[in-house]
Amino acid sequence: MTTASTNTTSHKDHIVIFDTTLRDGEQCPGASMTFEEKLQVASLLDEMGVDVIEAGFPIASDGDFESVREIARTVKSAVVCGLARANPNDIDRAGEAIRPAARGRIHTFIGTSPLHRQFQLQLDQEQVFERAVASVKRARNFTDDVEWSPMDATRTEHDYLCRIVEAAIDAGATTINIPDTVGYATPEEYYELIRLLIERVPNADKAIFSTHCHDDLGLAVANSLAGVRAGARQIECTINGLGERAGNAALEEVVMAIRTRGDILPYETSVDTTHLMRASKLISTVTSFPVQYNKAIVGRNAFAHESGIHQDGVLKNAQTYEIMTPESVGVSKNALVMGKHSGRHAFREKLKDLGFNLGENALEDTFKRFKDLADRKKDVYDEDIEALVGDEILTAQDRIRLVSLSVVAGTSGPQTAAITLDIDGAEHEAEGEGNGPVDAVFNVIKALVPHDATLELYQVHAVTGGTDAQAEVSVRLKSDNGEVTGRGADPDTLVASARAYLSALNRLRARGARTHAHAATP
Ligand code: KIV
Ligand code: ZN
Repeated sequence: MTTASTNTTSHKDHIVIFDTTLRDGEQCPGASMTFEEKLQVASLLDEMGVDVIEAGFPIASDGDFESVREIARTVKSAVVCGLARANPNDIDRAGEAIRPAARGRIHTFIGTSPLHRQFQLQLDQEQVFERAVASVKRARNFTDDVEWSPMDATRTEHDYLCRIVEAAIDAGATTINIPDTVGYATPEEYYELIRLLIERVPNADKAIFSTHCHDDLGLAVANSLAGVRAGARQIECTINGLGERAGNAALEEVVMAIRTRGDILPYETSVDTTHLMRASKLISTVTSFPVQYNKAIVGRNAFAHESGIHQDGVLKNAQTYEIMTPESVGVSKNALVMGKHSGRHAFREKLKDLGFNLGENALEDTFKRFKDLADRKKDVYDEDIEALVGDEILTAQDRIRLVSLSVVAGTSGPQTAAITLDIDGAEHEAEGEGNGPVDAVFNVIKALVPHDATLELYQVHAVTGGTDAQAEVSVRLKSDNGEVTGRGADPDTLVASARAYLSALNRLRARGARTHAHAATP
């Protein structure tokens, strides 16, 4: 049987890390990723040692199907999983998508709580029971690695839950995932639920139990760890805790909690934690979702010591105020990197150190932008280079590009902007005014690329300190095709704003080209 229960020579129990950034994470409004970005994320997850990658929901759209299939084809070590509802079309599509994988899994689910049965499915207990069994059996025709989830398990009647879990295992499910779909449970309750299932379901020893906790009450990581203490041996999680609404349990937090608190959590994972910061930055870049400064493990301030007493303590012995080293999560200490005399070779090495692996064209473009930046900015830091690379990754497939921008701003309005864009290989220019320079820039772009989207968010932050710092701008647009976020970086805030707006428009266009079956979203 091909399952993700990796062998280990250690005395500690292995916890299967099931990453669902590309599925549950991508469901987060505004966090959609392109095909190429998904491949990049999957490749990094595989390299860092994640056991299972939930690559997408193949029935949702042709784009989702293609990306799951390509990830299945290219991933080397991890199990590649596709999600399916409890119906034949979903399962067959997921089975088809994971077919090229060396190790493929189908994850099928159905709502089991009274609310889900009555209002969402309009099915009674027995009908849900039959569908669950039939879906697991059908999935087993494609792979012997089948995961089954009773959606909204934490609000499902216990007797019924035990009965349906037993039937799913009998039908061939090898992993039983217990979702706290709405993030309602507390750690004690979640612990009790996993314990109850393992003790009461007669064939519980034939499957691995798994946690899937949402963060609506900020308890996702605590609940996941409680589930593990109760006997679960798989945690479903996402990088940066991305996911529906308030998100899922953050992968970096569960992995570092297990690693740091081995004294009371005697488990191990196969994740190489030195990749965590890089993974966080990649996800933040491709989704354009900033990581909050005080985010555990990967936030900019996670290892910053501000107060004098703390700094004094850390200098004498880092352990006085640090429970993990920055290096253990991939934070490099030599932040000051290069200047205008640095050459191509040093730049390539720096990118390697930062964990980026760009193709020749992307490398050349980023190098040119680095030289340009180094001419304008005295010190170029790691963060500056990461912002440039982020821009390059985000815009690699763009069909609308900024050629030039000039703005007249100041106290004597009106503020005006003149812009030239390259749209599908042809240059177009226009000028116009607005209520302030950013408004002028956005108005002119809208005149050149008409659209119905509304601006949901405009946010600027400085990549580093200093008045010559690069500005990093995020722009979120909402249209009938959903929400997208774009990001742009430049020492000139208005150029960064134009780039971010164009990046969002490019994403919106790419999204419109995909046939997105909204009804299929779990
Ligand atoms: O939260 C949830 O219940 C899910 C299921 C599809 C497992 O994401
Ligand atoms: Zn979920």
